[in-house]
Formats: sequence, C-alpha cells, structure tokens
Amino acid sequence: MHRIAPSLLSADVARLGEEMHRVIAAGADWIHFDVMDNHYVPNLTFGPMVCEACARHAVRPDGSKVPMDVHLMVQPVDALAQAFARSGADLVSFHPEASAHVDRTLQLIRDEGCQAGLAFNPATPLAVLEWVIDRVDLVLVMSVNPGFGGQRFIPGALKKIEAARRLIERSGRDIRLQVDGGIKVDNIRAAADAGADTFVAGSAIFGQPDYRAVIAAMRAELAMPAQVEVVS
Ligand code: DX5
Ligand code: ZN
Repeated sequence: MHRIAPSLLSADVARLGEEMHRVIAAGADWIHFDVMDNHYVPNLTFGPMVCEACARHAVRPDGSKVPMDVHLMVQPVDALAQAFARSGADLVSFHPEASAHVDRTLQLIRDEGCQAGLAFNPATPLAVLEWVIDRVDLVLVMSVNPGFGGQRFIPGALKKIEAARRLIERSGRDIRLQVDGGIKVDNIRAAADAGADTFVAGSAIFGQPDYRAVIAAMRAELAMPAQVEVVS
C-alpha cells in the first residue's frame, strides 16, 4: 500500500499544529519530521521538544494515530535518536555515515519501541544494508542532497530505488521503501514504478493552497494502470 508523508519542513512553522490538522484532513498517511543539526547538514530545524508537541496533533479526526516519521540528519546519532524515540516518534531514520556503529544505532531505536530506518544520500551506496537488513524497518532513498526543501529530484535515485527494492525482496522482510526529495505529482509515479511505496513530499504539498487536491492528484497518479505501448 502506498503512503504519502508530507514533510513539515515546508509547512508554516509558526502554525505547526494547525498545518498538521489541515494536511491530515487532506489525507496524509504519515507526518515526515526533518531534523537538521547544522553539522551533518547545513541547516537547523526541530528538536525533540517540538516533536513531542507535534506528536500530540498527529491524530486523524476519527481519533486514530498518524505515525510520526522522524528523519534524523544529525551527527552523532545515538543520543538524539533516543531523545526523539521518547518524544513521540514512531519511526526514526538516520544516515549510516553519521553513526559510528550503525548496527548499534538500529538496535537502540528498536529497543525504544520505534521502527528503524536507514537513509541513503545520492552518493551513498546501499552496501551497508547487506549486513543489517534483518533489523531495518524502512529504507529511505534520498532523491536530493539532504538539508533543504524545494530542491530538484535527482533522476539517478530511480536506479537506487530499484536496487533497494531487489534487496528488500531478497530479504523476504516487510520493509518500507521511502523516497525523499523533489517528489511532485509529475514524478511520483516514476518513483513508484521503480519500487518506492512511501513518498515524502514537502514543497509540492505545502507550497499549494489546496493540500487535499495535491494529495488526491498524487494518489490518482499512483492508481493509474501501467501504460501499455501500442504498436500500430
Ligand atoms: C531534505 C528533507 C526532505 C524535504 C523534502 O533534506 O529530508 O524531507 O523536506 O522537501 P521537498 O519535497 O520540497 O523536496
Ligand atoms: Zn526528509
């Protein structure tokens, strides 16, 4: 099943709770929460206190919980991974090159009761997955360099999504494959065809006045039958 995860990075951060209500009412499946530390990436965003406050708004009108998908772009990772796990995160992803001991960090996140994700930058190979795939719940393929919203999708990410999908299939485990960066209505289908099942979108959703219309257009793209080439 496809999941759409709007990124709060592009929301009106002076009104985060209200923005969450609007985007959840518009059909968001997860809330993507980008944590940047001005060290691993050249930008600074939200801490655990803000996550905890937002998690209280991660509820659908029917009372069901919307998963808080925390994407850590920080170094070192462990102390913050634990802090976010204790501040309302449901999933915690990190970049393997930012952790001295990737296996230990994955275990730490799972021990806190969260799902654990590994995030791969455009130039980072998937190699590390081979050794830890049994303790990974989500693979995040970055389709921009991390640090900012509103960047252009890097087409090479599609090949990496395909490779990640093959590794996930070979593992036989139930692992989500997320794509993050530059996802719009006009390229979401290509990412899905490559094998992604979870789509982060920041500026594409929050940059438009009607969140519901954007999410509906994304779902319509995802639901479209595969194109059959007609040879005449
Ligand atoms: C970038 C972040 C993304 C960002 C995506 O470092 O990880 O989640 O919010 O924003 P868009 O969808 O605008 O590229
Ligand atoms: Zn992100």
